Amino acid sequence: MRILVTGGAGMVGSHSAEFFALENPKNKVIVLDNLMRSKIFGYDKASVEFNWNYLKKFKNITRIKGDVRNDKDVAKAVGKGVDVLIHTAGQPGVPSSVRMPKEDFSINAFGTLNVLEAVRKKSQDTIVVYCSTNKVYGENVDKIPLQELEKRYTFKDTAGVSEEMCTDLTGHTPYGVSKLVGDLYVQEYSHIYKMKTGVFRMSCTYGTRQFGFEDQGWVAWFIIATLFNKPITIYGNGKQVRDMLYADDLVDAFNRFINSDLKRGLFNIGGGPDNTISLIEFIEELQILTGKKPKVNFSDLRPSDQKVYITDTAKLKKILNWEIKTPVKEGIRKLTAWIKDNESYFS
Ligand SMILES: NC(=O)c1ccc[n+]([C@@H]2O[C@H](COP(=O)([O-])OP(=O)(O)OC[C@H]3O[C@@H](n4cnc5c(N)ncnc54)[C@H](O)[C@@H]3O)[C@@H](O)[C@H]2O)c1
Repeated sequence: MRILVTGGAGMVGSHSAEFFALENPKNKVIVLDNLMRSKIFGYDKASVEFNWNYLKKFKNITRIKGDVRNDKDVAKAVGKGVDVLIHTAGQPGVPSSVRMPKEDFSINAFGTLNVLEAVRKKSQDTIVVYCSTNKVYGENVDKIPLQELEKRYTFKDTAGVSEEMCTDLTGHTPYGVSKLVGDLYVQEYSHIYKMKTGVFRMSCTYGTRQFGFEDQGWVAWFIIATLFNKPITIYGNGKQVRDMLYADDLVDAFNRFINSDLKRGLFNIGGGPDNTISLIEFIEELQILTGKKPKVNFSDLRPSDQKVYITDTAKLKKILNWEIKTPVKEGIRKLTAWIKDNESYFS
């Protein structure tokens, strides 16, 4: 198979590229990334380029530095056509989308259309996998009644958010909007051009090779800050709850979709009710894991922060027979160990 992974130097992209490179030595994986994560977040470039250099050791991975918005770069990556496109390239931060909505739109919305069109022109048989987000549901999630417990909020009457949640009549943040545009185009290419496309509305996804900053990748950021004595700001009272998805489990779902007989798919994906953690609980877990007391400041809740997001993964389990293999505490341990092993990039 020829597999194009856009955003291959990112956290999800590098896990996807590695999985398909190892799955079959005959696979040819092409990675397209313009290495702009450091520019988006305004931080250290060397650490962000770690994943790019990491992928060099795989003989069946070709790395192309290029932008998903640039026709020539995309044409070079698509070449004579690809069997699978895994589109992970994106501007993944909510605050950065508010700071620069036009750049956010051009990367997430136009960039997605540009890549879709390039693969379609070569072959309508290309299978497309798209990294969407729970932010497409926007503040509709906040309408679910909550219960406040000692260390966390929880949904009162529902276990999790399903694909039936409405995406309309609510605020989203520019990021939620630009990702929804991409999400709709990917669905549309299945309807109008009969391509097999899978949209995965991802919850909080984390894993090794995640270079977290305050604006994005908070799981890695909290661990980095704790290990290297940097202050952590918690917006709100820390009872916010996220369900946590380890990157390898996400890639497993992509692979199941690619190998399925489905013509199209739309799935919410996350750790689900069994893999939730509140910020307060996470801080406590970090103290146990590292033996260090995180330096925490509290500030006002940011308007766009969902208090609770827990995914209903029933559809994914039923249709793709998918299960979480890395429970939340094991995933946090793995990521902490990886950050410790690579401390020169963080300290
Ligand atoms: N990590 C999460 O919790 C999460 C949750 C929901 C959705 N998502 C989505 O999943 C995708 C991957 O997320 P991630 O955590 O791996 O982010 P990431 O920032 O680690 O990876 C994104 C990669 O895309 C690259 N990129 C950005 N703009 C580009 C452009 N114009 N051309 C080519 N490459 C470009 C970046 O350099 C980076 O390497 C994103 O689309 C994000 O919106 C992530």
